[in-house]
Amino acid sequence: MWDDLKGLAAARKDRRIESLFAEDEGRAADFSVRMGDMLFDYSKTQLDAEVRAALVDLAEGCEVAKRRDAMFAGQKINETEGRAVLHTALRNLDAAPVLVDGADVMPEVLETLTRMEELANELRAGSVTDVVNIGIGGSDLGPAMAYRALSPYCDGPRCHFVSNVDGADIADTLDGLDPETTIFIIASKTFTTIETMTNARTAWDWIEDRGVSTEGRFIALSSNQGKAAQWGISADRVFGFEDWVGGRYSMWGPIGLSLMIAIGPEDFRAFLAGGQEMDRHFRDAPLSENMPVMLALVGIWHNQVLGHATRAVLPYDDRLARLPAYLQQLEMESNGKGVSMDGSDLAVNSGPVVWGEPGTNGQHAFYQLIHQGTRVVPCEFMVAARGHEPALAHHHALLIANCLAQSEALMRGRSLDEARGKVAGQFEGAELERQARHRVFPGNRPSTTLVYPLLDPATLGRIVALYEHRVFVEGAILDINSYDQWGVELGKELATALGPMVSGEADAGDKDGSTRQLLAFVHGNMG
Ligand code: F6P
Repeated sequence: MWDDLKGLAAARKDRRIESLFAEDEGRAADFSVRMGDMLFDYSKTQLDAEVRAALVDLAEGCEVAKRRDAMFAGQKINETEGRAVLHTALRNLDAAPVLVDGADVMPEVLETLTRMEELANELRAGSVTDVVNIGIGGSDLGPAMAYRALSPYCDGPRCHFVSNVDGADIADTLDGLDPETTIFIIASKTFTTIETMTNARTAWDWIEDRGVSTEGRFIALSSNQGKAAQWGISADRVFGFEDWVGGRYSMWGPIGLSLMIAIGPEDFRAFLAGGQEMDRHFRDAPLSENMPVMLALVGIWHNQVLGHATRAVLPYDDRLARLPAYLQQLEMESNGKGVSMDGSDLAVNSGPVVWGEPGTNGQHAFYQLIHQGTRVVPCEFMVAARGHEPALAHHHALLIANCLAQSEALMRGRSLDEARGKVAGQFEGAELERQARHRVFPGNRPSTTLVYPLLDPATLGRIVALYEHRVFVEGAILDINSYDQWGVELGKELATALGPMVSGEADAGDKDGSTRQLLAFVHGNMG
């Protein structure tokens, strides 16, 4: 299968994407997918009908639909940890039964949602001014990203997000907060993560040192409710979730509490409903008209078939500034793996490096490389048809124009002849030739664009669920377990051993020369 796809790619090596539009007037519509009021346009890529059919065949051959149905049905598709993968149950608002080991999980999911809503309403109506979410990875990135994304809907207490074990993070966050009106959310699936537990202890001391009672001031969100109780948090302030919610898929449940407090339960439900709408589409739409499937197949084509090692996510939506970081965890922690389900080496590369920044800022920073660098970076643009600031509609028009201009420029490029024309009046002869060559854009660089009317809670829910399912499809095709993360363990183990060496309580004698040199430098400069 992979060889066939590589053969198709080789046969298209010198073809210009632009020529596909010239040959087929209906290309834009044909190579796009609509879901509700969202449009995903992948026509500015090398995909043609034959390539698309081959990619869909690949998805069928890898039994994507069967695996998808197994996930929604609560089967234990996270095989290395023996767990179901059911973040979709957290947004299953109509409560259709979802069985794990024969028991319906929905009554508990909905009961927890109701408890969250009661607490959110209480806090929004009370005197709390600030909420500090302490968590890292999936217990931070989702709500932090969404809080920024939905700022026009934030009408509750201010939220802050502390993640890094670097004391600078919590120190800067607490600076200026009032311990009498601040509450803390300790968000940790395991309730053992060293960064989170260290920051939580510092927050606890901060409250106590100021003579304020810690009573009711701490909330725990965790699968490990026993540990949260041991930590001294009262049962009514503990919100649990099951091990079938992966950390990086957890913002739909209790881990989303800070967001719910900020935007209110009604808008949080709209966010869930958006995710649920994408779930329905993912389950029901034929593969070639299925937005997550096509987003994934375009990704597979660019990474595993054409060999482009990275992809840029470029939201022309400033409030999606944290989306690239969120997607880095979602995609790279899920599909950054070298072995397939049965433990054998992957047949092709694992998932790509994901990176990005909002436009237009990136244009004035790294787009130079995207346009003229020697490596191709497939780009994923996204933009809303309108912003939340009607008085600033002229800003939004410029934003959209820039977004569309970039995908057009990447595709068209600028030929040497056109570049000569640009400098003809300024230079002559060999100098004209030299100057012109610097102004050539190779073009033929692929991109996709996702457009939506407005970044509201439901749309954000659709976008996050779209990318979650994209990760699922890519993982299924690569035969990866997208739901474990063993690759984070080694560094954690070594950090635990190095701690006493940094503090001077243990000898670093058995460490390599570089580590010993670095430790010696630190010891010499600790002050
Ligand atoms: O170390 C990686 C990781 O396990 C992520 O998968 C997870 O989102 C993060 O740490 C935080 O874990 P927890 O929610 O258990 O504190």
